[in-house]
Amino acid sequence: MNCRVCLTPTRPVLDLGRMPLANAFLTAEQFEHEFHYLLGVARCPRCGMVQLVDSVDPRRIFHANYPYFSSTSKGMIRHFGNFARETLSDARAAAADPFVVEIGSNDGIMLRHFVEAGIRCLGIEPSSNVAAVARTHNVPTLEAFFDAETANFIRSEHGPAHALLGANVVCHIPDIHETFKAARILLAREGVFRFEDPYLGDIVRQSAVDQIYDEHVFYFSIGSIAYMAAAHGLELIDAEPQAVHGGSMRYTLVPAGSRMPTARLQALMQREASLGLNDESTYARFRSQIEEIRRDLVGVLHKLRRGGARVVGFGATAKSATLLNYCQIGPDLVEFISDSTPAKQHKFSPGMHIPVKPFAAFTERFPDCALLLAWNHAEEIIAANANFIANGGRWIHYVPVVRVV
Ligand code: SAH
Ligand code: TYD
Ligand code: ZN
Repeated sequence: MNCRVCLTPTRPVLDLGRMPLANAFLTAEQFEHEFHYLLGVARCPRCGMVQLVDSVDPRRIFHANYPYFSSTSKGMIRHFGNFARETLSDARAAAADPFVVEIGSNDGIMLRHFVEAGIRCLGIEPSSNVAAVARTHNVPTLEAFFDAETANFIRSEHGPAHALLGANVVCHIPDIHETFKAARILLAREGVFRFEDPYLGDIVRQSAVDQIYDEHVFYFSIGSIAYMAAAHGLELIDAEPQAVHGGSMRYTLVPAGSRMPTARLQALMQREASLGLNDESTYARFRSQIEEIRRDLVGVLHKLRRGGARVVGFGATAKSATLLNYCQIGPDLVEFISDSTPAKQHKFSPGMHIPVKPFAAFTERFPDCALLLAWNHAEEIIAANANFIANGGRWIHYVPVVRVV
């Protein structure tokens, strides 16, 4: 395939074969007609962008029954409170009556802070069910996919944005040139475009194969974002590592030449250069490490099963669809997955069809072991479930290596 960014022929990174959509939890009646696509990753030797080989039509993924609600973790609520507070001062410095727009605002986890502070804001959210929750928190929300047409419409209705924000959404949109073009259209001259996504350096470092799924079309690095910015009259002036989602990077872009890049950006670019993100050997190591994870995890689960132990999954994450299907782990090895999201409960996991049950099913009768599928929330989950360990339970981790503790 050719690179979505610069059209250069790409190099293959990984081929995971036929996969179901990661957030397509389903009922038993739907098993027969389950949708699959081919999941493969490639990298561009010219601009450095790591990307899916084939992407799925976003309308198949983001719709009235999108089951991901951002506010299901206390840690994420805190994280987006901080993100909002840090941006508030920037927006206030840019204009007397600043306007803040968020792409992929979901249930309003971040924008509700701007609403509370009396700042004009607008969320852009195509999944109508999560958008409806945002509106119950008084977050003005436009049900649309962010593109140049939407940006022009918003600018004509509300004026330019002093802060354009996004979390875990820019990497979801296949037409990345359209996203950046739209950002440039909407952004005020003094404005900032600030977004964060899982960081390629952290994915490779931790062999986090489960970060690869249909919604994650791009695996950004500082270098690939600097390239995108320059192609659209923008400039990357800052980057900040974030602990969320197993390691993310927050990028700050401004209209080219409007602000000086930070010293922190320089330092992070130097660090990135040492990670080998453009070297074939890095991805060869990644492939062998994920195979090792698969072998070890399947081995551990079979051994527990043979010993008569009960194993359940914790957190019906999108990520877990890749892990479970890649390892072919089904209900014979993992009895059910506990998840606090009503939209996922009483359904089955994509592809492997493991039942998803409410958290009460986990606490009613603790299993012997719990596979920590929401490993990015490990600290929060392990702390909140101390009684599981007190009852002799053990957590199974698989990132960066398989461990039972
Ligand atoms: N920002 C939230 C939600 C991330 S999930 C968080 O970090 O928790 C990605 C969200 O982006 C979904 O709610 C999805 O409906 C939305 N989305 C997907 N494509 C989009 C697009 N083109 N424009 C705006 N939002 C989009
Ligand atoms: P998330 O980590 O955001 O992963 P992904 O982006 O891969 O979907 O999703 C966390 C999931 O775990 C979500 O479905 C809610 C669930 N969850 C629980 O069931 N209990 C918890 O204590 C936490 C923190 C999350
Ligand atoms: Zn390229």
